Amino acid sequence: MENYTLITGASSGIGNAFAKAYAERGHNLIIVARSGDKLKAMARDYAEKYKIKVEYMIFDLSLENIAKAVYDEVNRRGLTVDTLVNNAGFATTGLLHTADYKIQHEEILLNVAAMTELTYLFIKGMSERGKGTVINLGSCVSFTPFPYSAVYAATKAYVLSFSESISYEYRDKGIRVLAVCPAPTQTHFFDKCGNVTDNMRTPANVVGSAFKTLEKGRKTVCKDGIITKLQAFMPRLLTRRAALNITGRISGRAWGKNNG
Ligand SMILES: NC(=O)c1ccc[n+]([C@@H]2O[C@H](COP(=O)([O-])OP(=O)(O)OC[C@H]3O[C@@H](n4cnc5c(N)ncnc54)[C@H](OP(=O)(O)O)[C@@H]3O)[C@@H](O)[C@H]2O)c1
Repeated sequence: MENYTLITGASSGIGNAFAKAYAERGHNLIIVARSGDKLKAMARDYAEKYKIKVEYMIFDLSLENIAKAVYDEVNRRGLTVDTLVNNAGFATTGLLHTADYKIQHEEILLNVAAMTELTYLFIKGMSERGKGTVINLGSCVSFTPFPYSAVYAATKAYVLSFSESISYEYRDKGIRVLAVCPAPTQTHFFDKCGNVTDNMRTPANVVGSAFKTLEKGRKTVCKDGIITKLQAFMPRLLTRRAALNITGRISGRAWGKNNG
């Protein structure tokens, strides 16, 4: 039986860097996203370069109940997932009522619902086999509210809380759960909304931090970059209101005038 690492949102940015890092370590891959052409080219390149098996699956993970379709397709192809990287995600910005609610709903379905259900479905097999890894992409905004990106920050707070809880539930079942919380990183993520800072990480930095955290100790949270470390520390130093005033001022400058 051959094991696979399934990565959502592998067609670009941080997901692409995770795919490369796992390929370099000899893992077979299942790469999932909407851009079929990119996935197809990537599957061919990585299989040839790293001498691994690469399956690609084209899914829009912001559709209702889509995780079960991914799970069924993995089983139909007779594949076993021992590592799951829930990476696909996006952000909306601006005053809550100015961003199209349909898009904010898709943001919740992708960042929260698909991530939760994929974990729910694949962790059962990992638990039965006594071995597995689940990596969920949080954010620096997992630790504090972030005005003008309220829905996104709330979805990433969910990712952190969910990951920490299940890391405890499955700690004696051979399953490692890690929430990776990147600081702003140079990817297509900011294409639509514009960035809040010029102090950017690279996808390779983020994945390097994730592997360092996985390989040493039993930490559940990988805080990548100085901005994430500061944001995670803020609630320990300040009242929630004071922290909110700081993040509100920072994001207000960048996104306060965004209309969706
Ligand atoms: N960049 C940052 O500063 C930053 C900071 C903190 C956290 N993060 C998190 O890191 C993760 C990766 O983001 P990134 O920065 O690498 O962004 P990115 O370059 O925009 O990549 C996003 C990936 O998700 C896929 N995706 C988007 N919508 C999808 C959908 N509906 N169904 C399936 N796949 C979908 C995209 O592929 P297709 O378009 O082909 O579907 C792409 O592969 C996200 O969860 C994000 O919230 C990013």
